[in-house]
Amino acid sequence: MPAVADLQHAELDLADEAATQAFGVRLASYLEPGDVIALEGDLGAGKSTLARALIRELGVEGEIPSPTFTLIQQYDTPYLMVAHVDLYRIEDDSEIEELGLEDALDYGALVVEWPERLGRAFAPGRVKGRLNLTLTLEDKGEDPAIEKRKLSAVGYGTWGPKLARITQ
Ligand SMILES: Nc1ncnc2c1ncn2[C@@H]1O[C@H](COP(=O)(O)OP(=O)(O)O)[C@@H](O)[C@H]1O
Ligand SMILES: [Mg+2]
Repeated sequence: MPAVADLQHAELDLADEAATQAFGVRLASYLEPGDVIALEGDLGAGKSTLARALIRELGVEGEIPSPTFTLIQQYDTPYLMVAHVDLYRIEDDSEIEELGLEDALDYGALVVEWPERLGRAFAPGRVKGRLNLTLTLEDKGEDPAIEKRKLSAVGYGTWGPKLARITQ
């Protein structure tokens, strides 16, 4: 088997919405142009919640709308350009091409919900750094107001050591 020294796994419990936001905030200072943050999980799992906390931490003020309908929202933050992308409504590859994601990745980072629909150009080995995050809804506990999530993270390339630092 090939040695994949820079591949890093982590599992985290996100006890509530604030924990999900706190994780997004932690990612912000490690984000670099050329990074792909892939957010997987069912509807309502917390993908947009995490993405918004990350973007807010980069200094974006005002509303951070979900890109569900616009498919892409671009932010010129004080640190770097970030494109927040939601591919849920994409039906074929030509629609993805129109979004200009390759250009956006040349000068900034991509934060992508429903990344299963991204082309091979954005696969872990093809980009500088990629962090795959999968959010899973947990069964509700005794208090229905508290919704726990499980977070499974895999860091590739430059995101291997960065994930290790964030989760240690
Ligand atoms: N632990 C948690 N992490 C993230 N969101 C949570 C959590 N607990 C409850 N929520 C709620 O779940 C919803 C998640 O919505 P959203 O982030 O838009 O999901 P997605 O983008 O994955 O469809 C929000 O209404 C949020 O308040
Ligand atoms: Mg969403």
